[in-house]
Amino acid sequence: MDKLKILAVVGSLRQGSFNRQLALAAGELVKESADFSLLNYADVPLLNQDDEYPAPEPVRRVREAVKAADGLWLFTPEYNHTFSGVLKNLIDWLSRPVSDTERQVLSHKAVAVSGITTGMTGTACAQDQLVMLLSLLNMRVMNYPRVAVPNAKTQLDEAGRLRLNAESLAFLEKQAAAYVKFLQKG
Ligand SMILES: Cc1cc2nc3c(=O)[nH]c(=O)nc-3n(C[C@H](O)[C@H](O)[C@H](O)COP(=O)(O)O)c2cc1C
Repeated sequence: MDKLKILAVVGSLRQGSFNRQLALAAGELVKESADFSLLNYADVPLLNQDDEYPAPEPVRRVREAVKAADGLWLFTPEYNHTFSGVLKNLIDWLSRPVSDTERQVLSHKAVAVSGITTGMTGTACAQDQLVMLLSLLNMRVMNYPRVAVPNAKTQLDEAGRLRLNAESLAFLEKQAAAYVKFLQKG
């Protein structure tokens, strides 16, 4: 069987993002079964319907990346108990028809959701709202297991990089294995 293609989408543009580091840790866990890459979407403009057609080049690029993937894996921060504006903007672009003859690219696409915060919620509130949106867009959401890591700052190494504790890592391993199976089942 060909290797799966998993496209990770990190909902934080911050250089040292804990969610980005969580995504990289997840990528390590699935590397035997999947090619895992991070979507670069920092150049996607704010959605303005005046500029939808023809789509800006960065939007065309991210749509192609989504189409080429077997599944997405979203890593969301939590901003004021919901997901970030940059992630919402990206999803809004992806939710729009590509053209008169081509539907939006998220429909039926598999997706898993994880996240990490410095607070206590571990992104549980953000994830609930994100899953509602992904379901509305007709995505094939892996509802269980989801990983929500709280207290990121208690899980750092001496250099301030994320070093997941054993409990968080075990949850991530379980989710990674489940997502590979979910994708293989199609
Ligand atoms: C605008 C804003 C709102 C935030 N709201 C929450 C929140 O509701 N719950 C929480 O646990 N952390 C909250 N945080 C803290 C984030 O968890 C923290 O900044 C985290 O590092 C963001 O993810 P990142 O490291 O991937 O950028 C907030 C941060 C920002 C910038």
